Amino acid sequence: MWKVLVTESIHEEGLAILREARDVQLVQKVGLSREDLFAQLQDTDALLTRSGTGIDVPLLEAAPVLKVVGRAGVGVDNVDLPEASRRGVVVINAPTGNTLSAAEQTLALMLGLIRRTPQANASMRRGEWDRKRFMGHQLNGKRLLVLGLGRIGTQVALRCRAFGMDVSAYDPYVSPGKAENLKVQLLPDLADALAMADVITLHVPLTEETRGMLDDRLVRTIKRGAYLINCARGGLVDEEACALALREGRLAGAAFDVYSMEPPGLEHPLLAEDLQDHIVLTPHLGANTYEAQSAVARIAATNLLAALRGEPYEHA
Ligand code: NAD
Ligand code: MLT
Repeated sequence: MWKVLVTESIHEEGLAILREARDVQLVQKVGLSREDLFAQLQDTDALLTRSGTGIDVPLLEAAPVLKVVGRAGVGVDNVDLPEASRRGVVVINAPTGNTLSAAEQTLALMLGLIRRTPQANASMRRGEWDRKRFMGHQLNGKRLLVLGLGRIGTQVALRCRAFGMDVSAYDPYVSPGKAENLKVQLLPDLADALAMADVITLHVPLTEETRGMLDDRLVRTIKRGAYLINCARGGLVDEEACALALREGRLAGAAFDVYSMEPPGLEHPLLAEDLQDHIVLTPHLGANTYEAQSAVARIAATNLLAALRGEPYEHA
């Protein structure tokens, strides 16, 4: 019997797959202290998490028989991948389960941002009726820059084309043929691409290469009056630089679903009171739909079982 430890809320569909497996003893313990987690890990063969459990060196050291780490989601930036592979621990994820939900959340943020929907809602709840204050923009005809034309970036590009946007992308790893099929212009230089776009949306993973990808220098190359959306990962954008760009009017607005520290805490630069007219923030909700959560739980549980049993599984 393999002991599979689940440390975060995973949709019942995924848990049922593990519960029904004859070779699995399922242990679900949400909200464990680090000490209790380490005690549980002593005899754990596979660990299934979302993004809230950091799989670092001390954790891997506390898990002598661990064989598989499963992520019910896409990003595996919460896992120390080199250390896991050094120890022969297989890392699996659910690469396709939340693609559409993350793309739709990006569109929700984009529309809410340029039409100032959260601010208008808050104003009405104060008893106001201020139509003049809430002037926005159309997406139609605006130039969109997608950073990372992978699964989510592609779905965002398709939806934005349907809105009449002129879509370009920066992604050195996709083929020109893919971009051509999508009718997306592939741009080779990030700074030039940022200088041309009206709306910029990030869809790259957080890796050693992309950490701090939009640093202060590059944020300064963004076209004046553009909008920036980060529904990918905290740590990709310098949040202080972004707050400064909003304050100085270089950015017209920004929407963030993800933060370099989660939860970010009230001292976070993007939560400053003077920025709130130009900002939309959500607490990492990109994959929070019933559809995505059931899909990622099912895919992650299936991949985790396959990896434990030495069978083929879906790769990111
Ligand atoms: P993906 O692997 O399909 O696509 C990522 C793309 O980024 C690839 O095309 C890759 O070539 C490109 N890329 C990598 N390095 C790059 C670089 N330096 N510059 C430009 N492009 C680069 O992944 P995906 O499924 O589209 O997901 C992307 C990320 O979105 C995930 O890694 C995750 O962190 C994030 N995500 C967030 C939520 C949320 O809840 N907000 C939900 C799902 C995914
Ligand atoms: C992911 O990487 O899949 C997302 O951040 C969503 C999540 O972990 O819930």
